[in-house]
Amino acid sequence: RWSAGNIIADSIARVREQVGSDNVLLGLSGGVDSSVVGALLHRAIGKQLTCVFVDHGLLRLNEGDQVMDTFARHMGVRVIRVDAADRFFKALKGEADPERKRKIIGRLFVEVFEEEAAKLQGIRWLAQGTIYPDVIESAGSKTGKAHVIKSHHNVGGLPEKMNLKLCEPLRELFKDEVRKLGVELGLPREMVYRHPFPGPGLGVRILGEVTKPYADLLRQADVIFLDELRRHDLYDRTSQAFAVFLPVRSVAVMGDGRRYDYVIALRCVETIDFMTARWSRLPYEFLDLVARRIINEVQGISRVTYDISGKPPATIEWE
Ligand code: XMP
Repeated sequence: RWSAGNIIADSIARVREQVGSDNVLLGLSGGVDSSVVGALLHRAIGKQLTCVFVDHGLLRLNEGDQVMDTFARHMGVRVIRVDAADRFFKALKGEADPERKRKIIGRLFVEVFEEEAAKLQGIRWLAQGTIYPDVIESAGSKTGKAHVIKSHHNVGGLPEKMNLKLCEPLRELFKDEVRKLGVELGLPREMVYRHPFPGPGLGVRILGEVTKPYADLLRQADVIFLDELRRHDLYDRTSQAFAVFLPVRSVAVMGDGRRYDYVIALRCVETIDFMTARWSRLPYEFLDLVARRIINEVQGISRVTYDISGKPPATIEWE
């Protein structure tokens, strides 16, 4: 009979048998899958696990600290946090093209991860949060390798370069099963049931050039939106919600002066498979509250809009 407890016991036994006394490396992103792998491996092999968490400066407010709190502080997992924000912003300077931005972020992520991995001694395995849908998806692709470090962060070359073997304990599980494992393993519910967050992070939610000041403004607006969604019991009833930064200035009259400040768009969708999506019919009163808070509390934002585009044709992310 399927139970999270059974699956965990089973996976732990399998991992122990697979890796023996070898050391294992895991790239922790803060996402559901890598988090569950981290918790599972920690229980299975304890100190033989080393996690590398690359903070690219495009995470949500306090997200990096939360990952460190959960894993390093509370669970005692060995996590190396790499603060690479400056490197990412430098590499992104002046780049406004969406595809090139994604490539820069993806490439640099792999580079930073590999640098950290190269500093570690005696690692024999690379663990990954590959889940069953990833396996199916990549079976359809020509190389069958697309899933290797899923999300956009493809460190597919690393196993060969470092002579690492792959450990993928979630390979046979669906997302809802992975979540149940996470809860059973003691991960915070908010982490396990969070909305999807793209690998390039806020990099795809800042239109045009990505800069630290823009990212800081976006983070402040985004946390207000998400906090209010949670407070109003709307977070779990929607599939994905976030703020987008528009680098255009719009006028506002505040106090005795005119301000030309930036614009925030709010996006909230409901979807089953993320292939099509319907914009969430959030209550007007709720939207009103969020807009007021953002404009009043975030210095530099003077206007808030709500995205009412469906997918298709509009994608969920803005770029
Ligand atoms: P779109 O914007 O294509 O997004 O409608 C569909 C889902 O995929 C997520 N997404 C990404 N996830 N790396 C990721 O890990 C990416 O580069 C990426 N781009 C989009 C998006 O957040 C949504 O859930």
